[in-house]
Amino acid sequence: MARTAVVDRVEKRYQMLVRFGQKLHGVVRLRPLLTLLADEVRRIVGAARCSIFLVDEARRELWTPVAQGLDARDLHLPLGQGLIGHVVAAGAAVRVADVYRDPRFNPAVDRHTGFKTRNVMAVPLKDRSGRTFGVFQALNKRQGLDFDAEDEGLLRILAGLAAAAVESARLYEELRDSHVETIQRLARTAEYRDAKDTAAHLRSIGRYSRLIARGFGLSDGEVESIECASPLHDIGKVGIRDAVLLKTGPLTAAETSEMRRHTSFGWEILSEAKSPLLRLAAEIAWAHHERFDGRGYPRGLKGGKIPPAARIVAVADVLDALTVERAYKRAWGFEESARYILNEGGRQFDPKVVAAFRRALEPLRQAWKERRSRAPGSR
Ligand code: C2E
Ligand code: SIN
Ligand code: SIN
Ligand code: FE
Repeated sequence: MARTAVVDRVEKRYQMLVRFGQKLHGVVRLRPLLTLLADEVRRIVGAARCSIFLVDEARRELWTPVAQGLDARDLHLPLGQGLIGHVVAAGAAVRVADVYRDPRFNPAVDRHTGFKTRNVMAVPLKDRSGRTFGVFQALNKRQGLDFDAEDEGLLRILAGLAAAAVESARLYEELRDSHVETIQRLARTAEYRDAKDTAAHLRSIGRYSRLIARGFGLSDGEVESIECASPLHDIGKVGIRDAVLLKTGPLTAAETSEMRRHTSFGWEILSEAKSPLLRLAAEIAWAHHERFDGRGYPRGLKGGKIPPAARIVAVADVLDALTVERAYKRAWGFEESARYILNEGGRQFDPKVVAAFRRALEPLRQAWKERRSRAPGSR
């Protein structure tokens, strides 16, 4: 009888581990991964709370996004303090039955979260070279029990599985961040000559594009890529002479055709890129002035032949262009601009994108309000 119970429990835990491994697979972004891990491990080891802390060497702190009870804000702790600080320094697990009697415990976190910690089990997360880069912590074993050696063994196994996933998500995130930063700086270069409020302009193009892309039904990853790539849509303006780019009045026919070359210049600058984000930016750059009815430039493509990201950014670009003052035009109000866009479905714009714009109208209005309160500012 007792033997069967043990076998059952081992079997159940084994099943949990298999499922755990499956769930980790395919979660590439760091924060969702950390949240998922904490949640799964909390259930598997039977703890009231579970968190993963990561070491930030530069800031000399540990942070976690998953302290349940605090709303979505990260929790930051100075490196070297408390039980988790001890785990990092020693690179070894701790298991404490009554934390308030352990001098290493830092009660500041409980004061901050309002959670009363009774017992703790924490194991290091180690990278391939054995360096501790984080801590997996479980608090308060369920039903008033203490964590035992078996729980600790289980947490070690889970932490081992988690470490590889966290490490690769982290590398992915770092790479992505440095890409995004480079793209943003490149975009600023392009806007530097003609816009007084470059940063606000680029931020709102990204935001508008994101909101419309989400309403269009794209996946989170695609939405994020469009948000990142959209600020480069006018990078080809670096190839336009000052006399045309900075002209205050209406453009002559010759100047207009010169100005229109910014789309092809953008394509030439970006299209050979290896990075998928820059390739997306290249499509947006050449096609953001194509029109759904085929009367746009540079190629006069129609409807579905225009890349979807460009159809989305086309709307974001015009919303931003209309609502701000240009050397050659006054600023339109939000409602007036929205009416213009809603009216251009099937002509200038893809009707499906216009429908997405309509669905996103309220958050777009909010984003516009924020932009107006910040701009026109300094660069
Ligand atoms: P931009 O100022 O960023 O404008 C982007 C797009 O927003 C324009 O593409 C157009 O589709 C829309 N847009 C901007 N202002 C208005 C407006 O007052 N009414 C309407 N209906 N739509 C507007 P577009 O026309 O292909 O222009 C591309 C770029 O060429 C503009 O970027 C701007 O840099 C330049 N540009 C366009 N027209 C003039 C002009 O009359 N004078 C000068 N100096 N530059 C112009
Ligand atoms: C950005 O700063 O590039 C976008 C930020 C946001 O949309 O909140
Ligand atoms: C261009 O029109 O400048 C290039 C667009 C393309 O070939 O895809
Ligand atoms: Fe443009």
